[in-house]
Amino acid sequence: ISSIKSPSRPEIFEFAGIPMISYFTKNWEKLKNFQARPDDILIATYPKAGTTWVSYILDLLYFGKVDPNGQSSLPIYMRVPFLESCFPGMPSGTELADNLPNSPRLIKTHLPVQLVPKSFWEQNSRVVYVARNAKDNVVSYFHSDRMNHGQPEPGDWNTFLEDFLKGEVVFGSWFDHVCGWWEKKKTYPNLHYMLYEDMAKDINGEVESLCTFLKLSRSDEEKNKIINSVQFDAMKQNKMTNYSTIPTMDFKISPFMRKGKVGDWKNHFTLAQNEQFDEVYKQKMKNTTLNFRTKI
Ligand code: A3P
Repeated sequence: ISSIKSPSRPEIFEFAGIPMISYFTKNWEKLKNFQARPDDILIATYPKAGTTWVSYILDLLYFGKVDPNGQSSLPIYMRVPFLESCFPGMPSGTELADNLPNSPRLIKTHLPVQLVPKSFWEQNSRVVYVARNAKDNVVSYFHSDRMNHGQPEPGDWNTFLEDFLKGEVVFGSWFDHVCGWWEKKKTYPNLHYMLYEDMAKDINGEVESLCTFLKLSRSDEEKNKIINSVQFDAMKQNKMTNYSTIPTMDFKISPFMRKGKVGDWKNHFTLAQNEQFDEVYKQKMKNTTLNFRTKI
């Protein structure tokens, strides 16, 4: 991993109708033809919605007992490949996934639903989607882009907020992303749709329903152990989950495990920004049954 070069900040451009950067489009041919397996679990999220959190929960549920050595020696981004990623000096997401020794494979993506390689649907692979309320999501994305040099320059908070509302950020519109995946659930039963806020409020309940979806039975003792390991502070301390081994991220600007709270948006939005946001939100979400909480 130390061989990863710190890339210069990428340009954003439109790709298949979505704002993207080359690190996520360079490997498109291989990505499009990626061969999924029936037992794969695709972890899909809009960036900064709790991907790492749910990835680690799944990693521990499946491999906590059988492969604890792997967990203590390989960072989460090697154990749960980021499918569309293709960074200089690092194996691409498809390569990592193709070479995963374990089964089921846990695979991460931020792609909007219409761009997911079709093999996942053909194989009827399981999908775990996590969505986070837009206000906390945009705050987290802003801080993440400030510190992650693998992403475009976010500009100041006001600029970033406007770009986010227009859908002009990497992976496109939050609205299209969360609603697109929500629609997919209607025709694809193998999709489990989760909310960050539910995980923050009742992690036990969320782990329980994940187990039901995945048809896993784990003892209370195992589940309690997992729940302790996936607490924000535990993951922040854990070098294998806190991204401290990635040189493109500057933790002096902001740590990857930043706050892990519901409602931090209140420390960022001005009254005017909040009103404008609510206006756009109402419009964009008027046709969906999807509901979010911005406090718990
Ligand atoms: P904040 O920036 O609000 O702190 P992703 O993994 O999709 O990149 O999402 C990162 C966000 O999830 C960050 O949000 C991070 O702190 C939060 N997060 C990661 N692990 C968490 C945990 N165990 N509990 C609560 N939040 C967590």
